[in-house]
Amino acid sequence: MAEESIEKIPGIGEKTAEKLKEAGFTDMMSIAASSSGVLSVAAGIGDDTAAKIISEARKMLKMGFEPATVALKKREQIGKITTGSKTLDAMLGGGIETQAITEMHGAFGSGKSQIGLQLSVNVQMPRDKGGLGAQAVFIDTEGTFRPERVQQMAKGAGLDPKKVLENIFVAKAYNSDHQVLLAEKCEDILKQGNVKLIVVDSVTSAFRSDYTGRGTLADRQQKLNRHLHQLQKLADIYNLAIYVTNQVMSRPDILFGDPTAPIGGHILGHQATFRVYLRKSKGEKRIGRLIDSPSLPEGETVFRVLPEGVRD
Ligand SMILES: Nc1ncnc2c1ncn2[C@@H]1O[C@H](COP(=O)(O)OP(=O)(O)OP(=O)(O)O)[C@@H](O)[C@H]1O
Ligand SMILES: [Mg+2]
Repeated sequence: MAEESIEKIPGIGEKTAEKLKEAGFTDMMSIAASSSGVLSVAAGIGDDTAAKIISEARKMLKMGFEPATVALKKREQIGKITTGSKTLDAMLGGGIETQAITEMHGAFGSGKSQIGLQLSVNVQMPRDKGGLGAQAVFIDTEGTFRPERVQQMAKGAGLDPKKVLENIFVAKAYNSDHQVLLAEKCEDILKQGNVKLIVVDSVTSAFRSDYTGRGTLADRQQKLNRHLHQLQKLADIYNLAIYVTNQVMSRPDILFGDPTAPIGGHILGHQATFRVYLRKSKGEKRIGRLIDSPSLPEGETVFRVLPEGVRD
């Protein structure tokens, strides 16, 4: 039903349907999950028309209130991907979850990207090994994706390195607009394939450099919010996990308050379901602290980044 063609929406004209499809609204769910502002701009139609189309699509999909049993059923479909470290998994309630955004922030070298690469490998493992037997999409905004490192981790996980690379769809984002576009475009892959993980590494850096002056902070925030909403929508519709990284610098100059407060504020706000703060310890050791979760206690754990990958 959610995949049904949009011509079936009552009152939708042939022309409007065409425009909507060109703008990427190819199925019922994409329209039902949109907002009138977005839809009207995308298809060049009036706000009222857009609102009506969305409401019809929602009616057809019976969206709105639903018994909690339906919500439970949806939650029962949540899958988990192992990070490679059992203790880190335990802190996250069994690994990183589908239908949610997991954000890890920390200073350079704290392991954010390593975990992203490891998850892209691990999602491919069978369910009984902590994977989802699925593929990954990797949006690389810093040019730090390293296929050689993925191969090394694949070997470490006992997988065929060539096959593992084939199952990771990588795109380099050149600026924040491009990043947003890639998150929209990747729906084509999601529709055909078997993707259960999207990595955005890093989700914030392009936004930081594209919006430097103070006057544009609100714009940046709004655009970033929209981007994260879009990602959450993909997580819900396709039952997949979103893993995003966010570099923060520790500020030893701060005597009072939180010395790890990200410069520029917590620009991810409360959009991530799970938030983890990573920091370096001795050698290969890293410390992860869960700071925000709807149902898990706050906790801290030690893991390691080794040549074969992320481990206890
Ligand atoms: N092949 C490897 N073998 C062992 N450890 C490695 C290997 N590759 C990377 N590492 C470890 O991972 C660290 C880099 O971590 P990572 O790239 O995840 O940092 P990051 O948090 O993404 O930093 P940034 O904010 O700069 O992107 C290295 O300093 C090293 O300790
Ligand atoms: Mg990195």
